Amino acid sequence: MGGAGQGGSNGQGGSAAKDGGVAGTGGGSDAGTKSDTGGSTVSFSKDILPMLNTSCKSCHSPPSPNAGVDVTTYSAVKSSATSINSAIQRGIMPPTGALSSANKQLIQSWVTAGEPNN
Ligand code: HEC
Repeated sequence: MGGAGQGGSNGQGGSAAKDGGVAGTGGGSDAGTKSDTGGSTVSFSKDILPMLNTSCKSCHSPPSPNAGVDVTTYSAVKSSATSINSAIQRGIMPPTGALSSANKQLIQSWVTAGEPNN
């Protein structure tokens, strides 16, 4: 791992506000009220990544993520999606307190949908 390569694309997680040009990020913190998703479409960039950034990134980001689980990019999350989802559903992550059932539902729906990069 050269470090430089991966770290380079890290700007994504760093500052939530300027994420890929999506201007209005709404509230930023996900209160768990996602009524506009209609219940069927979960967005990785709008729902999953912000949630992981808020709840997991402090312990699971480069250069040395705990347990080798990096939550800061799509490819990293996808490669660990099964264990991430499992840890969340079992309530063992984050260790500081389980996520709300709305957030558990979000990640479950995303995995069920085939982990889309949307
Ligand atoms: C306060 C720090 C901290 C936070 C926040 C945190 N983790 Fe962890 N996580 C750890 C540590 C430390 C380990 C490795 C030791 C262990 O397994 O308990 C770990 C391990 C894991 C593992 C591997 C578990 C396994 O079965 O091998 C996964 C997956 C994981 N975390 C996902 C998450 C997710 C998803 C979140 C956010 C919802 C999160 N973590 C939040 C510290 C944290």
